[in-house]
Amino acid sequence: MILVTGGAGYIGSHTCVELLSAGYEIAIMDNFSNSQPEVLEKIRQITGKDFKFYEADMTAPEATETIFRENTIDCVIHFAGYKAVGESVQQPLKYYYNNITGTVILCQIMQKYGCKKMVFSSSATVYGNPKSVPIREDFPLSTTNPYGSTKLMIEQILRDIAIADSEWSIALLRYFNPIGAHKSGLIGESPNGIPNNLVPYIAKVAAGQLEHLNVFGNDYPTQDGTGVRDYIHVVDLSLGHIKAVEKVLKTKGVDAYNLGTGKGYSVLEIVKAYEKACGKSIAYVIAPRRPGDIPACYADPAKSEKELGWTAKMGIEEMCEDSWRFTLNNLH
Ligand code: WQD
Repeated sequence: MILVTGGAGYIGSHTCVELLSAGYEIAIMDNFSNSQPEVLEKIRQITGKDFKFYEADMTAPEATETIFRENTIDCVIHFAGYKAVGESVQQPLKYYYNNITGTVILCQIMQKYGCKKMVFSSSATVYGNPKSVPIREDFPLSTTNPYGSTKLMIEQILRDIAIADSEWSIALLRYFNPIGAHKSGLIGESPNGIPNNLVPYIAKVAAGQLEHLNVFGNDYPTQDGTGVRDYIHVVDLSLGHIKAVEKVLKTKGVDAYNLGTGKGYSVLEIVKAYEKACGKSIAYVIAPRRPGDIPACYADPAKSEKELGWTAKMGIEEMCEDSWRFTLNNLH
């Protein structure tokens, strides 16, 4: 059985759909701090499969232990964690306690029950402001905010666990910018409140729920002056997790993998792609740069292709079309 912590979340739910579709038996653990219970039924509806669910917080040892006592967990895909960059700057202790302490408790319980295989949800944010692009996994690591620091610290904790006990097998998946939604339009990214991220914000402008997009700076050293990122379809990202599970079930040791397309798109290129997908024009104004933003960030996905046998398949048009379909389905 695969335990998916944070499995009701945006990337978690899409990964659970692919796990079930691939025939895996899963259990989902989530505390709904950044997800909705309705997602669980949507996963069942999409796949026609059932699974165990535990409403549990990873900082509560008893709750997590119950899962391991009641099931034989072969591998954990660990998504659960707070992920808002801005909030992490305002409330570092909330982030360190939840993300770090929660992960330490999870690993202690995994060890106690002899489960030593993990796929960890890391982030390209651990590369800080890269000296060049595309980014390889052996690039220097640094962070510029507490959220990113929790990801980097957890990567280090997991490496140390594997040094102490060579039975562990861990894949550190460094996501670039996940966007889009499952083709059914039933699950997708639905942040509470005003979105921090670009595409959910554009979606709300397109849906008439926000007046215009603020483009955070057009004076970066990029093709059109706006920030460049590696946008990857959330379903491609989810399939990368299936490949990572296959690898950790077969091998031992710790490896980091970039899950990105290897292509960078600017903010204005995304606006144009979204306009094509939704058939509306997206109003925007050029606003000051956002503190902490970097000019360009996109992956060299060669290691993931070679060692996981994985590559992203979907293009920016499909990402925007799938995002728009989900937005239309969930206008309430
Ligand atoms: C993308 C581009 C902005 C909003 C963050 C986290 C990262 C990961 C993904 C968790 C940038 C520009 C954005 C807006 C804009 N999250 N932008 N107007 O910052 O690359 O990555 O989300 O793992 O860790 O750092 O994503 O979508 O916020 O920004 O102009 O209203 O869009 O400046 O160039 P980012 P983003």
